[in-house]
Amino acid sequence: MDLRHLRVSREQDAPIYLQLYRRYREAIATGKLLPGDRVPSVRSLASELNLARGTVETAYQILTSEGYLVARGAAGTVVSPRLANLPEPGTARTAGRSVHESPRLQAVSSEVLPFQLGLPALDAFPRKVWARLAGRSLRTLGTVAMTYPDPAGYEPLRRAIAAYLGISRGIICSHEQIFVVAGYRGALELVCRTLLQAGDLGWYEDPGYIFARQYLELAGMRLEPVPVDEEGLNVGMGQQCAARARFAVVTPTHQSPMGMALSLPRRLELLEWAGRRRAWIIEDDYDSEFRYHGRPLPALKSLDRDGRVLYTGTFSKVLLPGLRLAYLIVPVSQIGRFRDVVDHLPGPGSILPQAMAADFMEHGHFARHLRKMRALYATRRGYLVNALAQTIGDRLHVQPQAGGIHVLAHLNARRSDKSLAAAAQARGLAVTALSSWRVRKSSQGGLLMGFANFATAEDAVAAVRRLKAIF
Ligand SMILES: Cc1ncc(COP(=O)(O)O)c(C=O)c1O
Repeated sequence: MDLRHLRVSREQDAPIYLQLYRRYREAIATGKLLPGDRVPSVRSLASELNLARGTVETAYQILTSEGYLVARGAAGTVVSPRLANLPEPGTARTAGRSVHESPRLQAVSSEVLPFQLGLPALDAFPRKVWARLAGRSLRTLGTVAMTYPDPAGYEPLRRAIAAYLGISRGIICSHEQIFVVAGYRGALELVCRTLLQAGDLGWYEDPGYIFARQYLELAGMRLEPVPVDEEGLNVGMGQQCAARARFAVVTPTHQSPMGMALSLPRRLELLEWAGRRRAWIIEDDYDSEFRYHGRPLPALKSLDRDGRVLYTGTFSKVLLPGLRLAYLIVPVSQIGRFRDVVDHLPGPGSILPQAMAADFMEHGHFARHLRKMRALYATRRGYLVNALAQTIGDRLHVQPQAGGIHVLAHLNARRSDKSLAAAAQARGLAVTALSSWRVRKSSQGGLLMGFANFATAEDAVAAVRRLKAIF
């Protein structure tokens, strides 16, 4: 393979792994690399480009998780053959979609792999109710919903979200503080455009949710990795390393991916720091609805006396990621600034899914669906945990977690979680290495596994048996 088009530069603003990732995406989208083409091994590319192996490994991990590359074990890593249906270079725009988007959509949407992270139980989506609501929405849409939509989101949905958050998350807010956005990244985009500037420094949990980290880096933010321990984000360390940060991104209810809750003393310490430094806290409350032991913890936002917390929630886990519906709650003092920005942006898209989600919530379906899903996930979690214990309990142990829709299994022996995950991926198992979500090195490796789509105990056992082979 000709490596000239993969050249990266230390002078550019973007981190090297991101530059390398983008070069690959470009090479695939423009046909310089074709489906099935073999890419150089991590070792040889690192030596050819004079980069650290970890840098190349991170870029390859992202490309693999997004479906551009597929690891084939001893046969090496290749450009995914499933990208064969990509439009010919140069013709893509006529199909109405940019060439850069296509491979990802195609690869991500075609099938659900065992252990895939981030997906709710697709077989339990309430199709019948949803179909009824779709018909009803279409029949009854008023003029407001048929003309240009409010870019802050459909008002009845914003009201329904405000009511829901008051009851379930202890957040008292008006619908005017709520902005409906296209997924969590939509919320981050709005915060970046309204309150932050390129070059601003922020705390980011280490390990932490890799896709939001990428997004913020792409938006020009500088991120300081702040370690998490058994009490969640180590606020003291954040203050030591980057006291002057302008913002902090946290997952207080269920740290992503480790699973602990941010302790109350840490919550108060974080709020005190933000109030004193006039910094912003972005609270990512992505899966707080699913908790199997104890009472759900109130959101950090419910303790926010100084108006420093920007709260984000999503419908991706409680309904479907395909809906692309999420929301951002801003402090009362900032409503005007957010309004000014949002009025110049495209907003969250079509009104229909928003109208249906509003009806779903207002008519009590949402509360019922959540109750059902909590019980279902507790059962499915049990399927996976038992299968792991019975089949490869000597190789790994599951870290206890009170909630969420994935498990984290630590390795009993010192082995590279990245190579194990790569071997699993080569067998069509979507296991993710904990260390690929870390910035700083740690001896504590682990495997992240989604369980929401194991419909039976047998499904879980069959997948875990396949996983056994990688040990
Ligand atoms: C930590 C975390 N935050 C937020 C989200 C939600 O992202 P989105 O709303 O874009 O689906 C996810 C989804 O997997 C997540 O894992």
